[in-house]
Amino acid sequence: MRVIVAKDYDEMSKRAGSIVKDRLAKKPNLVLGLATGSTPVGLYKELIRLHKEEGLSFKDVVTFNLDEYCGLSHDHPQSYHYFMKENLFKDIDIKPENTHIPEGLSKNVEEFCRKYEEEIKKCGGIDLQVLGIGGDGHIAFNEPGSSLSSRTRVKTLDEGTIKDNARFFEREEDVPKIAITMGIGTIMEAKEHLLLINGKNKAEAAAKAIEGPITSQITASVLQNHPKTIAILDEEAASLLERSDYYKFTEEQSGEIS
Ligand code: GLP
Repeated sequence: MRVIVAKDYDEMSKRAGSIVKDRLAKKPNLVLGLATGSTPVGLYKELIRLHKEEGLSFKDVVTFNLDEYCGLSHDHPQSYHYFMKENLFKDIDIKPENTHIPEGLSKNVEEFCRKYEEEIKKCGGIDLQVLGIGGDGHIAFNEPGSSLSSRTRVKTLDEGTIKDNARFFEREEDVPKIAITMGIGTIMEAKEHLLLINGKNKAEAAAKAIEGPITSQITASVLQNHPKTIAILDEEAASLLERSDYYKFTEEQSGEIS
């Protein structure tokens, strides 16, 4: 895993933006995996800036989102459909038909999940998957104990995740208890990962995911098994990493990200 320690959230987001820009320059019809939550908002702001100020185009880009709450309509302010529209899609030139987000209102969820996987394959697989991390070390909604070879499916949220995500809802009881999420097996098939972690409250999860043993109890740790993961952390999230000096030294040797 390539670990980059950025000075702060802003630098983390800008560096992530320059990686997406680089991959898009190499492949204009990039298949981009997207995440929600507060972590990637800065990256999305940067992508919008690159689009508006530098002409970065998403017109041939295809996107697949990691997850969606079950039971929320697309126009529910806390649905990931709404989040993506408001935080990215409405401000770039992406074609709505090229964007894919799990359908939280699906009547036949199993069939939906099977088709979602098929759609990813039909597009040639995900080239670059953006990931955040939950306080319990989860990626997407793959809570502790998820099978490390799981596919897109419904997952029950952990109590801690419900509490963490309650800040976006009026009351904790309003947080949906189940969600559709890409599985760990699905995520691991992406050709490259961009894992973003910021803030003190993520420091423990970050250290376990990056330097701890690979375990289904910290599902992000499985990324250690992927040949191409770039993790970008701000100083606070990196504060419990034991090998920070080495990561910084490595970056000094390799110069700019490619
Ligand atoms: C949710 C999402 C994850 C996200 C996590 C952290 O659980 N399913 O994809 O990484 O929240 O969110 P935040 O970035 O808001 O801390």
